[in-house]
Amino acid sequence: TIRCQSTSTDGPKTRNLLDNASNLLTNFLSGGSLGSMPVAEGAVSDLFGRPLFLALYDWFLEHGSVYKLAFGPKAFVVVSDPIVARHILRENAFSYDKGVLADILEPIMGKGLIPADLDTWKPRRRVIAPGFHALYLESMVKVFTNCSGRTISKFEELLERECLQGGEAIELNLEAEFSSLALDIIGLGVFNYDFGSVTKESPIIKAVYGTLFEAEHRSTFYVPYWKFPLARWLVPRQRKFQKDLKDINDCLDGLIRNAKETRQETDVEKLQQRDYSNLKDASLLRFLVDMRGADVDDCQLRDDLMTMLIAGHETTAAVLTWAVFLLAQNPSKMKKAQAEIDTVLGQGRPTFDSLKKLEFIRLIVVESLRLFPQPPLLIRRSLKSDSLPGGHKGKKDGYAIPAGTDIFVSVYNLHRSPYFWDKPHEFEPERFLAQRNSEGIEGWAGFDPSRSPGALYPNEIISDFAFLPFGGGPRKCVGDQFALMESTVALAMLLQKFDVELKGPPESVEQVTGATIHTKNGLWCRVKKRSDVH
Ligand code: HEM
Repeated sequence: TIRCQSTSTDGPKTRNLLDNASNLLTNFLSGGSLGSMPVAEGAVSDLFGRPLFLALYDWFLEHGSVYKLAFGPKAFVVVSDPIVARHILRENAFSYDKGVLADILEPIMGKGLIPADLDTWKPRRRVIAPGFHALYLESMVKVFTNCSGRTISKFEELLERECLQGGEAIELNLEAEFSSLALDIIGLGVFNYDFGSVTKESPIIKAVYGTLFEAEHRSTFYVPYWKFPLARWLVPRQRKFQKDLKDINDCLDGLIRNAKETRQETDVEKLQQRDYSNLKDASLLRFLVDMRGADVDDCQLRDDLMTMLIAGHETTAAVLTWAVFLLAQNPSKMKKAQAEIDTVLGQGRPTFDSLKKLEFIRLIVVESLRLFPQPPLLIRRSLKSDSLPGGHKGKKDGYAIPAGTDIFVSVYNLHRSPYFWDKPHEFEPERFLAQRNSEGIEGWAGFDPSRSPGALYPNEIISDFAFLPFGGGPRKCVGDQFALMESTVALAMLLQKFDVELKGPPESVEQVTGATIHTKNGLWCRVKKRSDVH
């Protein structure tokens, strides 16, 4: 039975997306406190053929860093300013929930951390966050190298076969390959389950992709028809979705049962000091089950695992996809990256310590996240009325917003804002070494690495919310370091062995979005052995 994950969506607490949008519209029409905000009157045709976040960028340049977007019955406030983003995500974070995003994700993630309401979220976050401790992350580097090694071996075998037939390069959809790699890593890291998707297809892998596909469909489809009574039985794609969910949930239930049967209860501190080099199962599930005092029903645990499976899979695959897309167009940066890899690793594999020396690879990863943030928009809904601060190029005294206002914090706009970045659309990983606040904006502290001492990667603290690839404030991503190290390892191991070129022109790689920015038809590349390494 598929119990908990769907019941909450039908409950009285859940507000229908359209109800809410019309509340908001009423506010606008009645000249509510949003009255003085610039308005982007979107025509639906503006959206045809391109993702929403790109249209929001054009309107940001036209209307400023806080504007409202009225689209038929839907209306949103769009924020592209670090001071206002900081207020919503950190300073006044508990006045907001996930709004429309929770409506879409609850049927899949139930009460998992991402869609969870504040009361459910608080105790779960306290339990889950300590699971990503230093020794866990260090032990995960082996998982990253082992899984990336499988991908590399697969490419080498394919290439060898190709060479026997006189060819020198293989054509691969690297986006699909990165997706398999990230799925294998998240399965092992979060619940010690080897999907083995780099080398095979299985019903459970198909179910994971089916679920992701449905999440994307729901995030881009205008009318939430899946909420209509009987839709889950009558609409074929909804029937398939329910079956996919059941398959994944059965698999997770089995893993939870198994972990509970072998439970060794102990305190958090002791768990964090275990000898991870000798642990057979270093997974997060093991940690969550063994933790004393963290008794939780299986349903909640399953929602948490499902959330991390989805949150940590396509996001990382997308980072690698766009990093390669950018590098393939900048061969000199690719060579610079390979030179660093040769110096630091030679022919060896990355380790936790060598990651610290792979500075340029780390900067490529963050620059890829700057240009292609995953997700490009953070979604919030105000639980009570609030006063937004005045932002850069905004109204000095800010705007008052009523309860129930739907908000997009556009990370994409922030990351490409001409007010905070030199040549904002250019791929320039080195920019993070030389970043500065050229305008001295009041209320924004500029870029300063000393605010986050010891951080391996630039973050929202260093940039005072001009760069926030993992969000910020209490609901910041729990898996940020996991994902950054995973991407660094995978990218380093790929470039250590291969040169990569795009198969077609860059313009043919079209962008589409659901939760992440991905390609329309795959990232087709020509992959060949590096010519400068023998
Ligand atoms: C939340 C990005 C990888 C688990 C978030 C948020 C962002 C994000 C932007 C904040 C969402 C919001 O404020 O609305 C990313 C990116 C990743 C990545 C870009 C890869 C490059 C991961 C991984 C995991 C993970 C590997 C788990 C292993 C989560 C969870 C939350 C979250 C559980 C919700 C946190 C909370 O509300 O307390 N992620 N993420 N993410 N992420 Fe990630």
